[in-house]
Amino acid sequence: MSRQKIRYAVIGGGQISQQAFMPGIGQADNAELVALITGDAKKADALADQCGIQAHTYDDYETLLRSGDIDAVYVATPNFRHTSFVMAALDAGIHVLCEKPLATSVEECEKMIEAQRSSNAKLMTAYRLHCEPGSVDLFTRARRGDFGTLRAFSASFSQNVDERNSRGHNGYWGGPVPDMGAYPLNEARQLFAAEPIAVQAIGTQDPTRGFDFHDTVAVTLLFPENRTAQFTVSYATAAIETFSLIGTQATVHASPCFGFGPELELTYVVDTGEARQTYRFEPVDQFGGEVQYFSDCILNDRQPEPDGEEGLMDVRVLAAIEQALDTGRTIELEPRSRDRYVTSEQTQTLTPAAMPSEDQLVGVITQSA
Ligand SMILES: NC(=O)c1ccc[n+]([C@@H]2O[C@H](COP(=O)([O-])OP(=O)(O)OC[C@H]3O[C@@H](n4cnc5c(N)ncnc54)[C@H](OP(=O)(O)O)[C@@H]3O)[C@@H](O)[C@H]2O)c1
Repeated sequence: MSRQKIRYAVIGGGQISQQAFMPGIGQADNAELVALITGDAKKADALADQCGIQAHTYDDYETLLRSGDIDAVYVATPNFRHTSFVMAALDAGIHVLCEKPLATSVEECEKMIEAQRSSNAKLMTAYRLHCEPGSVDLFTRARRGDFGTLRAFSASFSQNVDERNSRGHNGYWGGPVPDMGAYPLNEARQLFAAEPIAVQAIGTQDPTRGFDFHDTVAVTLLFPENRTAQFTVSYATAAIETFSLIGTQATVHASPCFGFGPELELTYVVDTGEARQTYRFEPVDQFGGEVQYFSDCILNDRQPEPDGEEGLMDVRVLAAIEQALDTGRTIELEPRSRDRYVTSEQTQTLTPAAMPSEDQLVGVITQSA
């Protein structure tokens, strides 16, 4: 491709677009923001003006895709709307960076993967931690045996979510398991470099809150070679983000470990029983980093590592967790393997952009209650 900067349109001007993606893309030297698709006229005016970009309505999406004005889209709508935007872009030969979870069913993910294979466009699931230095470092060390044989993973990831936000009233697939559970699930899969084979889950619902799903869920996963991963996620507690990775020679305690922001230093402590060592990583622009990586893949015709299949590997587990919650039974998963996991070449170290505060966002019901 002769063009040196990939031209992106953002689909959906919600919290993550305004707070993280739109500032972050400015840190990448091989990408630029040129358009926004929004259903909100106020956002169209304010954000187009603020960022010097075109704004269009959802009705104009097909026209924009075929206009020659964009090379790629960043899909940041609620999860249940990802598929139609992804499919239309791939059909038009436009590259797609889609927020996690990739879709709300295995079938939708398979459709996207098929559409990507029969187009010239690339598809990346927006796993920003796959380019974040601390996460990549830990994946690499865990897999090369620095902590002995890995046996167990255990995580808590919670926040207090406003029921009025889109994720607060759209059933299981807007709820804490797909939204927040995607992080510990993906972390465990990447640390173990393996895919789970069975799932159990228990959910509870706080009667004083207005969610239409289990607001707190505890999940247990069985991986091949006698490894387990557990995580608890919630929309109805104080915020926490932490995990422990237990190996035969050392335990790793990580916190913060899933978040982002200009001040956030991902940190982990390795405890061998005889010594403890802390590893703290400078904040980077995680959104700029994932855009830099994806744009580099496009410019150099390489398939991104967190591709459609990587998104599918999480979605199939999220779907099994839903089934486990509905039935109360252990759900077995077909044994699968991936031939790619995160590698150190993916690391990106862009300086963090300033992040607008929640009250500076235009027309957003923020997720925090
Ligand atoms: N990578 C991360 O760290 C991270 C963090 C948070 C969220 N996410 C993901 O990013 C996506 C968006 O999350 P968000 O927090 O930005 O959500 P949000 O604040 O609710 O924004 C979603 C935006 O999508 C658009 N939209 C289109 N159809 C909609 C509908 N039927 N209902 C509501 N909104 C609709 C709206 O934009 P317009 O008004 O402009 O049309 C809305 O503002 C989700 O997939 C989520 O999982 C990722």
